[in-house]
Amino acid sequence: MIVVKTIQEIRAAVAQARAEGQGRIGLVPTMGALHAGHFSLVQAARRECGFVVVSIFVNPTQFGPNEDLSKYPRPVEKDLAGCREHGADAVFLPEVAEMYGQGSPTTVHVARLTERLCGASRPGHFDGVCTVVTKLFHIVGADVAYFGAKDYQQATVIRRMVADLNQPVEVKLCPTLRESDGLAMSSRNVYLTPGERRQATALIESLRLAEKLIRQGERGGAKVIEAVRRHVAQNAPLGAIDYVEIVDPEALSPVETIAAPVVVALAVTFPSARLIDNMRVDVPRRG
Ligand code: PAJ
Repeated sequence: MIVVKTIQEIRAAVAQARAEGQGRIGLVPTMGALHAGHFSLVQAARRECGFVVVSIFVNPTQFGPNEDLSKYPRPVEKDLAGCREHGADAVFLPEVAEMYGQGSPTTVHVARLTERLCGASRPGHFDGVCTVVTKLFHIVGADVAYFGAKDYQQATVIRRMVADLNQPVEVKLCPTLRESDGLAMSSRNVYLTPGERRQATALIESLRLAEKLIRQGERGGAKVIEAVRRHVAQNAPLGAIDYVEIVDPEALSPVETIAAPVVVALAVTFPSARLIDNMRVDVPRRG
């Protein structure tokens, strides 16, 4: 596995892999502090591609002014060991100056899909994500890129961007990996105090409750949202609900009457970390 810091070097490595006919180029974009969720994407890329690139870049443009950019964990050696262990061929580890030079006034903005859910409470966040992901696509020139369902809105926005801008890359969505008690794995879980960590399971429990209600025939979106809110309020008193929404899986628009598959999504802000989770619930389409 090679580790490179410059655009020129990663392009040269990918060009060589192509020249050698190594097969499809897979890209797993990350911000590091890698856990089993990230590695599941690397493993998917390993299964499906001949040359696997992992990018590790804590992208400043997707953090708001009061967010955790400066304290975001950066265990680089451990991350590199994990990438090696899971079969990556190359890690692209650029500095901020390599990615953004002397500042960059150009951004990629996806309208509508970014206005709700996390976009509503994190203004500019998805512009930062779309811009850096577009840059990474152009830099690496991958055939396939892997994203986690844990960040469902992000993956949906990126899919839309790729389609709308005709970016020549296939976007694959991989399932959310969870701790044994159901908490979605996240680099930010390390911030949680033991008390917050115990209460954090309320997110997945409330999603399972929503799934159960919908499976039992509840079709009122507002009713399900109310049940989710009540569960979180009762079981995670240290957390403040940012949003609970039931949305169309592609348009991400709110669903009032559940008559087709939906995604139930929520964000809860604990004093030490903001956590998100979501679950797709399939129901038979009506008619
Ligand atoms: P990061 O939070 O490091 O996540 C990198 C990728 O890992 C994302 O596609 C995310 O959805 C996926 N991931 C995180 N936790 C996961 C879990 N528990 N199970 C499965 N996949 C999981 O998302 C970002 O970085 C950035 O926004 C990025 C796309 C790299 C752009 O900067």
